[in-house]
Amino acid sequence: MASSRRDLAVRASVDQGLLSPAEPVVALLDTAGIRASAAALTSAFAAVTDAPVLHAFAVKAAPLVPVLRLLREAGLGVEVASPGELALARAAGVPPTDTVLDSPAKTPAELRQALALGIAVNADNLQELARIDALVASAPTASPLGIRVNPQVGAGSIGALSTATATSKFGVALRDEGARKAVVQAYLERPWLTRLHTHTGSQGVPLALMAEGVGEAYALAEEINRTVGRQQIDTLDIGGGLPVNFHSDEETPTYAEYARLLADTVPGLFDGRYGLVTEFGRSLLAKHGTVLTRVEYTKTSGGRPIAVTHAGVQLATRTVYAPDAWPLRVLAYDSEGRPRTGEVTVQDVAGPACFTGDLLAAGRSLPLLHPGDVVAVPDTGAYCFAHHYAYNSLPRPGVHGFTVTENGDGDGGEGGDGVVTFTTVRKPQTLAEIVAESGGAHADALVG
Ligand SMILES: Cc1ncc(COP(=O)(O)O)c(C=O)c1O
Repeated sequence: MASSRRDLAVRASVDQGLLSPAEPVVALLDTAGIRASAAALTSAFAAVTDAPVLHAFAVKAAPLVPVLRLLREAGLGVEVASPGELALARAAGVPPTDTVLDSPAKTPAELRQALALGIAVNADNLQELARIDALVASAPTASPLGIRVNPQVGAGSIGALSTATATSKFGVALRDEGARKAVVQAYLERPWLTRLHTHTGSQGVPLALMAEGVGEAYALAEEINRTVGRQQIDTLDIGGGLPVNFHSDEETPTYAEYARLLADTVPGLFDGRYGLVTEFGRSLLAKHGTVLTRVEYTKTSGGRPIAVTHAGVQLATRTVYAPDAWPLRVLAYDSEGRPRTGEVTVQDVAGPACFTGDLLAAGRSLPLLHPGDVVAVPDTGAYCFAHHYAYNSLPRPGVHGFTVTENGDGDGGEGGDGVVTFTTVRKPQTLAEIVAESGGAHADALVG
């Protein structure tokens, strides 16, 4: 169980001095959980199709080289959307053949590099396609090439993450006047365009809407192949977007549910005529990351108890700025890392940044926190602690992977007695690094 592994890891973080007054915030990654999610993804699609499927992890969800290496070992590729993400993927040893480049603003240099390496590229728009035309004409490439389309099927509950709205910035907006015809024509004129891509959105988009977006892309691929008179599009990239449950430890919805829904609603997708690419991010990592922070002080303000911790906007930026869309659970432990019991009190859990809204949770019912207690923030493995926001020059925390091994009693740590081993995924940022990254070498740049 992920929750018993987490309890063991919290206790061990305190026992082993990972979390301490000197190091009051750390991030943990449950390697067994990540492996289990990767296996669940792979088997969910293997259960509905014999077609080749590349599961390309969306690097933006957890841009950490050791995470990419772990997922690579589990048989996954990567989806990258910037030169930085591509550099991380290469550092992790992911081969170009299992790398997909999507981004709405690729420069000529990025495109040239991708085509030289043989990385799959999805053109975001027809202007980008014209750049690719020139590159394809100038040198042979092994890159599988496609176009991203926006099926314009509508938004989910979080506007900022809904990519298939009528006016989304991503892809060719298929329902705009003349757009569909232009896309079909683009394939007719370019026999080397063999892929079609869509990503309907992320957190907040219901499975049925995701499947509708995929269905639209499939229908377009069929139309294009019919028009061209051959199976020119041989691979459909259906994007990522499986939402994550931030309210409990339950991992719902599942990849298996989504794969079955696709099999029911777009059966031709899985009949073997198309290879597939998926680009899941959040659903592979979110549940397997936990931020731990010590409570530095407690106080009351206007009668409301407040626990001031070291985890706030720098780690959970979306939660702090948009708390209704991005609620996070907060778990209370005592100073030795044991689950805190005691009377439940409505309280705020605040971060260290210098603005009032820097709250991990407002008005949350929890056992009353005390100075030195440990607060755990689960479900933070994607788009959270790996996406540091440098407010107040707060340092990036260390990230540690953990594994739990049996204590010889055969219960795999379920009885709360396994041995926890930590490995460094990323060291904490030092003050010297903060100064260096803040123009420390150019102190005189604006004077004299
Ligand atoms: C093109 C593309 N693919 C995949 C993803 C990953 O989405 P998620 O993390 O929700 O699975 C995103 C997220 O923004 C994306 O833009």
